[in-house]
Amino acid sequence: NTEIIKIQPGDGPVSEEDDAKLKAAGEILRRGGLVAFPTETVYGLGGDALNPTSSKRIYAAKGRPSDNPLIVHIYRFEDIYKITGDVPEEARRIADAFWPGPLTMILPKSDAVPYETTGGLDTVAIRMPSHPAAQKLIEYSGGYIAAPSANTSGKPSPTVAKYVVEDMMGRIDAIIDGGEVGIGLESTIIDLTVSPPQILRPGYITREKLSAVLGTVDTDATILRADSGQAPKAPGMKYRHYAPRGELTIVEGTPEQVREYINREAAADHVAGEKTGIIGTEEMLSGYTADVVKSVGSRRDEDSIARHLYTILREFDDEGVTKIYSEGFSTDGFGQAIMNRLLKAAGHKVVKL
Ligand code: TXA
Ligand code: MG
Repeated sequence: NTEIIKIQPGDGPVSEEDDAKLKAAGEILRRGGLVAFPTETVYGLGGDALNPTSSKRIYAAKGRPSDNPLIVHIYRFEDIYKITGDVPEEARRIADAFWPGPLTMILPKSDAVPYETTGGLDTVAIRMPSHPAAQKLIEYSGGYIAAPSANTSGKPSPTVAKYVVEDMMGRIDAIIDGGEVGIGLESTIIDLTVSPPQILRPGYITREKLSAVLGTVDTDATILRADSGQAPKAPGMKYRHYAPRGELTIVEGTPEQVREYINREAAADHVAGEKTGIIGTEEMLSGYTADVVKSVGSRRDEDSIARHLYTILREFDDEGVTKIYSEGFSTDGFGQAIMNRLLKAAGHKVVKL
């Protein structure tokens, strides 16, 4: 029986009424239960990070392979010392610059963190979210929440509570509904156990922003490349991920080429009995024809593209779309995160015209 707890939507300060609800949810976590909650990136599926039983329950609820480690969420910097033996200067500097916020750092784990939480690794992923309700929940739960994204393993991460309900109803104790999240893609992950530091998953905090603080920062070479036989360093990045049920193809070229190719393919698919969908930008939208055409946002506003991408993939599932075509996007800055998720959703199926 999953309780749905509605709080004020958005990331404003927590009201007194919501505070009481978050306290009660914190109690559920203290008892070893699971609670899904909004963060500024995507919804998380939380359990007590220091309780091995809670972590095992998280894997079971998601249907996630247990070698895929969880992120430990804290609400104040000083709590980091309990879960890592070693806080290098770099960690302090990027925490000053980007915490609370959509950044996760990998550090050596301490004995306080069970291997059930780290998927057997001797390192731990740590993040301090900026969402006020998430912060309160972490505080009331005892300070350490292990939380993967609150989707069934392999599906796009939920950016609204509706999709958490769809995936997790009956599998966890409670779902906190705080409306639509702000960013829409998961946090940037940076590994500080190697030198120079290395980005394992791109996100809103870009390499450019990180290297302004840290100097040289590497990027895991598998992030934008098709399977090169090389294993990504974040275990979770190796799984087919963020994927809709329909078959997604990314199409790149001039606007005219892309429009013509997508329309032609979609028309042929339609005749073959497929239900077709197109993910387009505002600028290109009026030129498309398919069963379902959706705008992901304006090319001039990457934030809006990131915020809408997962919801659109989910909506295509809802509507039974079987063939999906998407425009490609620039891989500069935040665009790298957008293309990384889109490429994974497409299983790296890209047509270059
Ligand atoms: O924005 C986010 O980070 C969201 C919200 C809920 O905070 N959480 C999230 O968690 O995206 P999840 O479990 O869906 O993704 C965690 C990623 C996985 O790819 C995992 O392999 C990687 O982090 N990871 C976790 N611990 C790691 C470690 N010690 N070393 C390398 N990669 C790690
Ligand atoms: Mg995930």
